[in-house]
Amino acid sequence: MIRPILLHPDSRLKKKAVNIENIDDALINLAEDMMETMYDAPGIGLAAPQVGILERLIVMDCAKKEDEDPDPFIMVNPIITTSSEEKNVYEEGCLSIPEHFAEITRPEVIQVEWVDLEGKQHTQEFDGLKSTCVQHEIDHLNGKLFIDYLGPMKRQLITRKMQKFKREKLRGEE
Ligand code: NI
Repeated sequence: MIRPILLHPDSRLKKKAVNIENIDDALINLAEDMMETMYDAPGIGLAAPQVGILERLIVMDCAKKEDEDPDPFIMVNPIITTSSEEKNVYEEGCLSIPEHFAEITRPEVIQVEWVDLEGKQHTQEFDGLKSTCVQHEIDHLNGKLFIDYLGPMKRQLITRKMQKFKREKLRGEE
């Protein structure tokens, strides 16, 4: 089932998500819905708070070219255990802030630990786009958006445009 994606500004996107204690049917269902919602958008990553669930769950698939095989990840309680000194810059976007993009600098290589839906522990190193994507999604679990890395002027400009976009969207739905 495709779930509606919350749009910035929304107080739920600013809250810290809680650790997941039990992998139950509701969580598996949520992960499936998030994957479907992400592919439908389309996007390369989605965090549970973006669908209004304040739990530490993210999904991603950075294989975006048509000839690439799908490369899905579902991460429960992901944590970054190491980050490289070397930085990387990517132009980031966000499904909660559609049509706005900005170059963001982040550590180039990270090591991530997470649990999968079978309760199995994983440790993996990521670089390139996947590294940026995991960091962006884990930020969502901590109530942080990519625009929080920008200066106040740029951030306020995007926020004002998003407020207007949301008002117009609401009017269109009436
Ligand atoms: Ni995002």
